[in-house]
Amino acid sequence: MHCVRKVNEDIYYVGGCDRRLELFENVYPIPNGITYNSYLIMDEKKVLMDTVDRSIGQQFLENIECVLGNETLDYLVIQHMEPDHCSMAANLLQRYPALKIVGNAQIKKMLNHFFELNLDNYLEVKENDTLNIGRHTLKFISAPMVHWPEVMMTYDETDKILFSADAFGSFGTMNGNLFDDEVNFKNEWLSEARRYYTNIVGKYGPQVLNVLKKASTLDIQLIAPLHGPLHRSDIGWYVEKYQKWASYEPEEKGVMIVYGSVYGNTENAANVLANELSLRGVSNIKVYDVSKTHPSYLVSEAFRCSHLVMASITYNSGIFVNMEHLLHDLKAHNLQNRTVGLIENGSWACTAGKQMKEFFEGMKNMHVLEEKVTMTSSLKEAQQKEIETFADALVQSMGEN
Ligand code: FEO
Repeated sequence: MHCVRKVNEDIYYVGGCDRRLELFENVYPIPNGITYNSYLIMDEKKVLMDTVDRSIGQQFLENIECVLGNETLDYLVIQHMEPDHCSMAANLLQRYPALKIVGNAQIKKMLNHFFELNLDNYLEVKENDTLNIGRHTLKFISAPMVHWPEVMMTYDETDKILFSADAFGSFGTMNGNLFDDEVNFKNEWLSEARRYYTNIVGKYGPQVLNVLKKASTLDIQLIAPLHGPLHRSDIGWYVEKYQKWASYEPEEKGVMIVYGSVYGNTENAANVLANELSLRGVSNIKVYDVSKTHPSYLVSEAFRCSHLVMASITYNSGIFVNMEHLLHDLKAHNLQNRTVGLIENGSWACTAGKQMKEFFEGMKNMHVLEEKVTMTSSLKEAQQKEIETFADALVQSMGEN
């Protein structure tokens, strides 16, 4: 049966959710599933904004049939040709042979690479081109690398809606509620929206800032992304989050302590440090086991926190394997502007600290504290002063930020 919702008087939500998929992009755990959003505009011309992943294709086709009734589909706007959003294009071309696909030149090229569609009817648009479909006028805005090079967004000049492609999206499925003011977005969705942004688009901060600059000239009453809830309340608050994430500024003053521990001794040092920080008045502290927490959560937390403490054993003469993976992930996502403290452990030839320091020095604007803690197999009572000095240095640097 169809499962659609009205977005406004003539725009319908025809996407859906997938709660079965374990890993988005075969990388990122999605315990709460994912939505693939698609919007059907029932104007004089019937216009579909993107399709969905084929995993929910049947639901999607039923939704479209229900809303269209006896009408036909005139245009399919493809803003982002990644298959989670356009894998149903071929099915639509089959059902609606006169359908025109609307997109930019890069989208056309990449569609052919993936799907070999018949694109004789392709309507190629470029930056600031408009398409009048009756009551609505759609304006196209290029958004390269948010998240792929071909991406464009669409601004509905009539209803002041920004169809934002992947931007402003989130992991997680809606549960009937469609809009941010129908859910507790700040408490229940923000962490997954952050994890989605930082892992999927985080590397491309400068490009995101470019698009935010363009968007700042628009009167936006509703943001309609390709994943997660639609935003119509407190849009400025959410845009501000994007400004922070895209400029690699810490979102909050806080400490993320990540440890890689085999026998629990490096974990102990992480806990002792967390206690010392708390005694010094730090309240925003999170401690994670790098072997237990998926790196996507840690990348997201690193974008949130101003201070990172990495505690690693020395392993195969290097950094603990899962810690090394995380460091590569942080670098790949272009993380910058953080203060880093290091705890190292080694039963013989302890080198993890030196190697982690060199790693962070290869990243942009990462300030590694001179003070560090070195352990030989376990943290000893005699090292109380050493850990206190380390905690003092961290707290002092927090005051300086
Ligand atoms: Fe949701 Fe970049 O695809």
